[in-house]
Amino acid sequence: MIEFILNNKPIKTDQPTGSLLLDFVRYEKSLMGTKIGCREGDCGACTVLIGELIDSQLNYRQVVSCLTPLGNVHGKHIVTIEGLNMDSLSPVQQFMVDESGSQCGFCTTGFVVSLTQFCLAKSTPSYKDAIASIDGNICRCTGYKPIERVAKHITESLSDKNQNETLDWLIAQQFIPSYFAQIPEMLNALPPVNINPKNKTLVGGGTDLYVQKHAQLIDKNVDLISNTPNLCCIEIENGVCTLGAGITATDLLESDSFQSAFPRLKDHLKLLASSPIRNMATIGGNFVNASPIGDFTAFFLALNAKIKLTKNGQNRSIYLKDFYKGYKDLDKSSDEIVSTISFKLPTQNSHYNFEKVSKRIHLDIASVNTAFQITISKNVITQAHLSAGGVGPIPMYLGETCDFLLNKALLPETVQSAHEIIQTEINPISDVRGSANYKRLLLRQLFCAHFITLFPNQFTLDSFI
Ligand SMILES: Cc1cc2nc3c(=O)[nH]c(=O)nc-3n(C[C@H](O)[C@H](O)[C@H](O)COP(=O)(O)OP(=O)(O)OC[C@H]3O[C@@H](n4cnc5c(N)ncnc54)[C@H](O)[C@@H]3O)c2cc1C
Ligand code: FES
Ligand code: FES
Repeated sequence: MIEFILNNKPIKTDQPTGSLLLDFVRYEKSLMGTKIGCREGDCGACTVLIGELIDSQLNYRQVVSCLTPLGNVHGKHIVTIEGLNMDSLSPVQQFMVDESGSQCGFCTTGFVVSLTQFCLAKSTPSYKDAIASIDGNICRCTGYKPIERVAKHITESLSDKNQNETLDWLIAQQFIPSYFAQIPEMLNALPPVNINPKNKTLVGGGTDLYVQKHAQLIDKNVDLISNTPNLCCIEIENGVCTLGAGITATDLLESDSFQSAFPRLKDHLKLLASSPIRNMATIGGNFVNASPIGDFTAFFLALNAKIKLTKNGQNRSIYLKDFYKGYKDLDKSSDEIVSTISFKLPTQNSHYNFEKVSKRIHLDIASVNTAFQITISKNVITQAHLSAGGVGPIPMYLGETCDFLLNKALLPETVQSAHEIIQTEINPISDVRGSANYKRLLLRQLFCAHFITLFPNQFTLDSFI
């Protein structure tokens, strides 16, 4: 039995855990404000809020309901546009009207839900964050300028928001209905999830699986990573970081300790999909999907990460770079799960960078991506880990290049010679994301970009001409 709160009502349902939240709200509950656009996580027409209690505080994130398995909402608060409606329009809705932010209206509910998530966020409101909150919503009519003005008005109207009593303040200002005040109590009354894995299809966030296997999953029960204990931890001890495989991109972005180890994390992860997808996409799902251009995979390969694989309580650890045997061929049996990822945190002398080029900057998968970790002592390279995606059938760890770099001076000549080795290690193919030659060139440019970004006093564009 799946139990959750939908707007202001408790729900108990025996629908399959693999059925979709979008279909439940529309067809079981007749809440038609949540729209069906692409069903692939791209358009945001189906956006809803998912709220949960974290340290007794309600935390809301926007998700695409078209890829959310119903099992993942057990114990949570789901808010559709109907759950935001009050006797009069909320400021978010009113600004949309005032600025003509809605024309045909198909995208509007998704925008309103995402912008309301921005209002609910704990961080100090900024126009930049308001715009970021709608990075997963597409509008075909307005040209976005009216919606950008709406975002500006909302940011201004939140300037007095009480950061400590966010919910009460938003209720008092009629941004959200008053029933939100009862949600913590209602969530606490829900039973804990009933963990009963049965070796069915394993689902993390569902953002790959439901795009690829929608029809096979929607009437089935599935095993859910969110129901597996200890897969959502972030632990840092003695310079080693261990992440549960169920950690999402947003979990990393909201972790102060992870942020301090990777100060440019926000810049790196904003290149991964959109806010709703980052709220759902797990690290483990990215590794096991085994896309040669997976961004998490490239990110962690360059940290020389190890993964722990678990089956019937038995664990084994392997390096992530040894996980990939061939195109979508993994060193993993069908009933093993990736449970944790661990790696040494960069030290004072080690530097980390991630680069990605895609056809669009945002909401697009990479043509080529790469990450690099390099340790320097007295201008000599003492450690190097380099990954590259989109240049072979698997996410690649470029071991020969890393070996070459060891004990070399940090000079443009070293980078040039290393680049020649890179070109012998990779084997890109021509496809919709670019020709093989273009991808070779891209990786060269991105490899140089690592050095320009990490050592701006030593390397400029001119160093590589
Ligand atoms: C609109 C959109 C944009 C996207 N943009 C990007 C992007 O920019 N960059 C990028 O890299 N990806 C992108 N993706 C792909 C996807 O979001 C990521 O690959 C994500 O990390 C997958 O995680 P998930 O939890 O959703 O995986 P799921 O779909 O739940 O699972 C994927 C696979 O992994 C298996 N699995 C999941 N967790 C585990 C585990 N712990 N152990 C064993 N097996 C497991 C599942 O059985 C399944 O085979 C995008 C997807 C969408 C829909
Ligand atoms: S229907 Fe397009 S994102 Fe869900
Ligand atoms: S108003 Fe028509 S798609 Fe946005």
